[in-house]
Order: sequence, then C-alpha cells, then structure tokens
Amino acid sequence: MSIAIRPITPDFAGEVSRIDLTRALSPAEVSAIDGGMDRYAVLVFRDQNITDEQQIAFSANFGVLEHTAGGNVTRPEQKRLSPQMADVSNLDQNHRPLARDDRRRLFNLGNQLWHSDSSFRAVPAKYSILSGRIVVDKGGNTEFADMRGAYDALDDEMKAEVEGLICEHSLIYSRGLLGFTDLTPEERAMFRPVRQSLVRTHPKSGRKSLYLSSHAGTIVGRPMPEARAFLRDLNEAATRPENVYVHRWRRYDLVMWDNRQTMHRVRRFDDRLVRDMRRTTIAGDAPTAVQDAAA
Ligand SMILES: [Fe+2]
Repeated sequence: MSIAIRPITPDFAGEVSRIDLTRALSPAEVSAIDGGMDRYAVLVFRDQNITDEQQIAFSANFGVLEHTAGGNVTRPEQKRLSPQMADVSNLDQNHRPLARDDRRRLFNLGNQLWHSDSSFRAVPAKYSILSGRIVVDKGGNTEFADMRGAYDALDDEMKAEVEGLICEHSLIYSRGLLGFTDLTPEERAMFRPVRQSLVRTHPKSGRKSLYLSSHAGTIVGRPMPEARAFLRDLNEAATRPENVYVHRWRRYDLVMWDNRQTMHRVRRFDDRLVRDMRRTTIAGDAPTAVQDAAA
C-alpha cells in the first residue's frame, strides 16, 4: 500500500496515511511527501511514536538540519535535548515544567505569537517537523495560517505596495511585544536583526506568499511606527479564521509545515502540566534578501 494524502481543506493542510516514520523511507515516499508539502504546506501524520534518532533520520530526507544555537535564551548546560532537536516543550533539563517566573518559560511564551520559524536567521528555515510526545488535553492547539492565501487575498494596490519591501526580523522584536526585554548584551548581539523579503515565491509552484512573522519589527526605509502599523494590518488580514487550520494534538501526532508558505502559533494551555513537543528544522537554501553590511 502506498502513501495517501487526504486534503483537510482544498489546498491547505493534508493528512498523510499508510506510512510509518520510524522506518527508512523509499525515494517514492520522500517524493510523495515533498509533493504534498508543495501543495498543502502543512502535513499531519497520526500515530507516529518515534524516537529523537528516528525523527532526525526522517527529517534528513528533506535537507540539512538546522542547528538550534542562537534561537533562544536557554544556556547549553540547561539543554534537555541534542542540538539538532529544538525543545518546544515546557520542561527543564530534569523534565519538569519550568517555574512560572523562569526566564526560559517567559521567552518561550513568544511561541503564542504568529510567526515563521527561524525568520530571525539570515537563512531562514524551510520545513519544521514537530512531534507531540506528550500532549495536553485542553488548549495547546497549534494554528497555521496559509500565507499564499494571505497574498492572494490582497487587492492589486496592496500587492504592488508589498512587492520588493524588506523587513527586519529579530527575536528582540517578537519578545519585545510581550514585554520581555531583559536580554544580556550577548543575547542582543546574537539576536541582531536580519533582513527578509516580505513577498516570497515558492520555487516549485511559483505561488507568491507573504513572509510575515512576529519577529518582523520594521521595514527598511519606513519610519518604525508606520512599518509596524502596516505589518499589523497585514497580519490581521492573513490570520482571519477562513485562512487558518487549527491542529488539535493527539499523542504521537507529527506535523510538518513549510515556513516559507505559512505562519503558526501555539495557543495557551496549563503549563504546570507536562507538554513534551520536539522539533527538527530543515534549513533553507539561501537568504531571502541582501543583508545590511552593518548587520
Ligand atoms: Fe514555531
């Protein structure tokens, strides 16, 4: 039996069946998944009880894994997982929920803002692959916005206005939205802004998408308040319910999304409970914009 993909909506999000991600995939399976990603941008795989090693091996079918350094305020000795696994849980290195005032928890609350993974890196992420090892019964949904649909919904005047615009993205901006500003000089240097095109074109489908993220804090050549007001408007339109798929986690779900074509956010949950989510990330091919020489 070969792999099957059932559309969840006509062209956004699909559910994949007849595949076991704990095993090595055939080239035909890899290409079917790649094709599904090009078309649906989000793929859901149910009942995949995998180990970190199996998740890393599965991920490597789709490109080079991104190293997690530079993406958070967790110190090396506080890491719970290997450097190829982004720890998206609410747990400390002893597998216990982080204390309410723990700065790692406060920093991670930024995941509740709409974003595209690693848009704060000069070469931003292609795919993210998130495995739900322990999920919570209430809350904690992950929502996905189709940024191709967001672009398509713009009128011609807006399409002309966004074309060619370059945004600056940084974790300093996204965390600043929540009032998390107590960064060390080393963290500020690590999180210095990078430039990203606001409009991206998918290399295979040719579809354009809006490349937005809570990390985007300004637009090159525009006064900051004007840039932020404009970005807020674009974000609001892009995340209207008709443009969003809500994923309600079951244990051992694995969800894969294309950061070039989507934004996502996690919703609130009682984080005194254990929620163990582990992400691998596939690096992108190239920057989306020329970087500022001073950056
Ligand atoms: Fe994320």
